[in-house]
Amino acid sequence: MNKNQQQPWHILGAGAIGCLWAHAMQQWQLDVTILTRNKQQHQQLQTQGIQLTDGKVTYTSRPASLYPGLGGAKISNLLVCTKAYATLSAVESWRKLLHPQANILLLQNGMGTAQALQTRLPKANIYCATTTDGAWRQGPWRVVRAGMGDTQIGTFSAHLSSHTAPAQIAHLLTLSAAHTNLLRLHWHADILTPIWHKLAINSVINALTAVYQINNGELIKHSQARPRLEQLCKETEDVMSRCHITPIPHGLLQQALRVLNQTADNQSSMLQDCLADRPTEIDAINGFIIQQGSLLHLPCAAHKQICDDLHQQYPRPS
Ligand SMILES: NC(=O)c1ccc[n+]([C@@H]2O[C@H](COP(=O)([O-])OP(=O)(O)OC[C@H]3O[C@@H](n4cnc5c(N)ncnc54)[C@H](OP(=O)(O)O)[C@@H]3O)[C@@H](O)[C@H]2O)c1
Repeated sequence: MNKNQQQPWHILGAGAIGCLWAHAMQQWQLDVTILTRNKQQHQQLQTQGIQLTDGKVTYTSRPASLYPGLGGAKISNLLVCTKAYATLSAVESWRKLLHPQANILLLQNGMGTAQALQTRLPKANIYCATTTDGAWRQGPWRVVRAGMGDTQIGTFSAHLSSHTAPAQIAHLLTLSAAHTNLLRLHWHADILTPIWHKLAINSVINALTAVYQINNGELIKHSQARPRLEQLCKETEDVMSRCHITPIPHGLLQQALRVLNQTADNQSSMLQDCLADRPTEIDAINGFIIQQGSLLHLPCAAHKQICDDLHQQYPRPS
């Protein structure tokens, strides 16, 4: 596929992960446009560009950008990297420009948003991605790559084949394979399995670390949090089993303990969000498990309790 045959990509949610992708797409010489929240963000981006620090080097990218109401060509390929709670309203603000059968690639933690998006946009071709990349925002349009990971991409929409990537995503996979220092992208024929597995780990670690205000490693031996971790694992595995999700090898508790050991000094993103008085993704993580459980008449008492505790301790919209 040469550049003239490519349809442009738009990125909605150009925070830490979205800027990583914008930088990679520019390096791949793709036509990429950032959809900013408002005119002020658009002007700031056009003035300073994206600065991505990777190790000791800082790269500057200068993608095009648009803000709602400015107009523009139809959006056919949309990468969405907003937090789960912000996604529906963010997409709504671009609905007029969105092609009804647009390819939408949703890259975020948590679950439930893809289904909600599909209900609103029944003809859209929705794909989901899950990543082990790490990045954080140093300031507006300034991002630091914290770690190089892998990104699994697969089909969400039931009307699409899950075995093959569409041309526009296949092209990204080819570019990623040729430049592995930017993004490592892989096609996954059963994307819901890795997404569920990541959700399961996040659901038993993140909210607990936020409620007890502890680093990941402290959770392993914490006298109050550890029993709750075990109960959360049990409830999550019950829901997964009843939803026919492939079990996590060696069990969720062993996997969670392995992650906690490997990231012992880290603060979970949910604890960071709570301490910074930002909304959290708890509704798309523990809330999703509770919702699935209620469809199956599973009470999920430990998940409900941790949600209540978090909302009580950090009383703000989440
Ligand atoms: N960062 C990581 O290392 C990492 C790793 C794995 C998975 N994830 C997941 O990836 C997703 C994105 O994470 P992130 O760390 O990149 O989040 P982030 O830095 O907070 O970025 C989200 C971006 O979405 C933008 N946004 C929200 N509503 C918008 C709207 N209506 N219009 C335009 N832009 C809008 C935000 O803009 P404002 O700044 O104006 O709010 C922000 O720039 C999350 O689900 C996260 O859990 C992140």
